[in-house]
Amino acid sequence: NKKLVIGLFGFGVVGEGLYKALQQTPTLQATIKKICIKDPGKKRAAPASLFTTDRDELLYDPEINVIVEVINEADAAFHIASTAFLNGKAVVSASKKMIAEHLTKLLELQRQVDLPFLYEAAACASIPVIRNLEEYYDNDLLHGIRAIVNGSTNYILTRMFEDKLTFPEALLSAQSLGFAEKDPTLDVQGWDAAHKCCILLMHAYGIITSTDHLLFNGIQNISAQDAKVAGEKGLGIKLVAQARKLRSGKIAACVLPQFVQASDSLHFVRNEFNGVEIESHFADKQFFYGKGAGSFPTASAVLSDIAALRYDYKYEYKKLHQAPAELTEEYYLKVY
Ligand code: HSE
Repeated sequence: NKKLVIGLFGFGVVGEGLYKALQQTPTLQATIKKICIKDPGKKRAAPASLFTTDRDELLYDPEINVIVEVINEADAAFHIASTAFLNGKAVVSASKKMIAEHLTKLLELQRQVDLPFLYEAAACASIPVIRNLEEYYDNDLLHGIRAIVNGSTNYILTRMFEDKLTFPEALLSAQSLGFAEKDPTLDVQGWDAAHKCCILLMHAYGIITSTDHLLFNGIQNISAQDAKVAGEKGLGIKLVAQARKLRSGKIAACVLPQFVQASDSLHFVRNEFNGVEIESHFADKQFFYGKGAGSFPTASAVLSDIAALRYDYKYEYKKLHQAPAELTEEYYLKVY
């Protein structure tokens, strides 16, 4: 029975949620030995003896066998993850930006060291979307994905539609509830959704891409007037990430705000919830729904990754090992 000794990087919304969640799940037998933070002056909801500002205290501690990394800065997160691997530690991460930007290097490294690298919290928080995508046998069977993957923008749109809040009011509310990124332009301008889309493309189709090659936009130009007009026509406006397999075998993908009909499953996804519709050859349509942001919902995904280490779960990246599909923007550029 493997004992999990965790070095945790980050004690913000997610880190604190994870700390509390682990306290409530003693049967998991996973303990946090040290927590690395940037600002030692802040008051924290955990014993002071747990905290340090010295990364090496975690990364070079031989007793720590799992590094959980839930920080904001992508480059620092990448450094932490790679050093952890090189020191023989499993890595659990929630840093979507870091994963999307460094996927190739991380996979190379992970392959070399053959240690678990799990990041379910990096896409759709509480919804186990990565694991589900891993299970679709091959990419020929996966016709497409349409998803709301960013909780903050969905929350903002919901408040604008339902409570007639202005954009700045709704954003402020999303920030105060801990849904938005530290730099909320990442949410609002679609970067966060694009990072998550890159991660989903990897697990759905074996495509390694980056935001440089993905067509995306956010909700920065959606006004209260747009919400009013759409509402009058019975339509919603959602920021939708989608990927679709074309007849040519290429994958068309994008993240764009779209009108959605009242009959669309994504229409019912309100507030900080996310929804993922997957269409596949044998299963037809499946819909996954759950909270896509917030302290405990995100911590729940990190917790499930930690639990999965106990039974040596690893992503198989089987689509990557089959012939990865090619990405194209053509389809959406024609449509829009
Ligand atoms: N800012 C992100 C969101 C947090 O709103 O979806 C969860 O990844």
